[in-house]
Amino acid sequence: MTEIEIKQPKAYAAISLATEEQGFTMPSELQTCSLLCTLAASKPNGKFLELGTGTGLSTAWILQGMDAKSKLVSVDNDVDVQAIAQRYLGEDERLDLICIDAGDWIKNNSQHKFNYIFADTWAGKYNNLDETLELLESGGFYIIDDMLPQQNWPEGHEEKASDLIKYLENRSDLKLTKLNWASGIIIAVKLNINL
Ligand SMILES: C[S@@+](CC[C@H](N)C(=O)[O-])C[C@H]1O[C@@H](n2cnc3c(N)ncnc32)[C@H](O)[C@@H]1O
Repeated sequence: MTEIEIKQPKAYAAISLATEEQGFTMPSELQTCSLLCTLAASKPNGKFLELGTGTGLSTAWILQGMDAKSKLVSVDNDVDVQAIAQRYLGEDERLDLICIDAGDWIKNNSQHKFNYIFADTWAGKYNNLDETLELLESGGFYIIDDMLPQQNWPEGHEEKASDLIKYLENRSDLKLTKLNWASGIIIAVKLNINL
């Protein structure tokens, strides 16, 4: 149960190496990536959004789960980091890599809807949360990680994480599960509250 046996994305090893070489310190864990891939496979013809591309590790796994007709928009504001994702994944026509402040992107794209949002930066998680959840279709997944206490958390962050969990739990338009898996994951599904 603790071994990841599923096939790794083709570019994953090369991205991992480039990530290490660049000294990028915030990659998603393999277990998280495996879950992202499996959940992605449940949304054929889906519209996917990733906030925080990093070097493209999680992006590679989300793409691996997506079918040929699905599309993924992935946003990061660090051009050097996102360049690694561009180098190894940029030829995938399903992927649109955007280098911009994620908060600005969320505000400027309120007309779009997504079936799957992986929010892996401040915007979409600790900032701009309501606007991000507005982007989610009914039945869509909202996924966040790093919800268990992490060594690199600054003072006061534990309280912020706890407030975020309480806020999500109290929203009547979400059904969520907290997973003690990898760095701590929350999966929420958006409800059609008009039903
Ligand atoms: C936790 S890392 C993402 C890791 C990535 N998902 C992975 O699996 O490796 C968070 C990312 O958010 C980006 N970031 C930080 N502030 C941002 C902002 N205001 N707008 C967009 N991206 C931002 C950082 O450059 C970093 O790559």
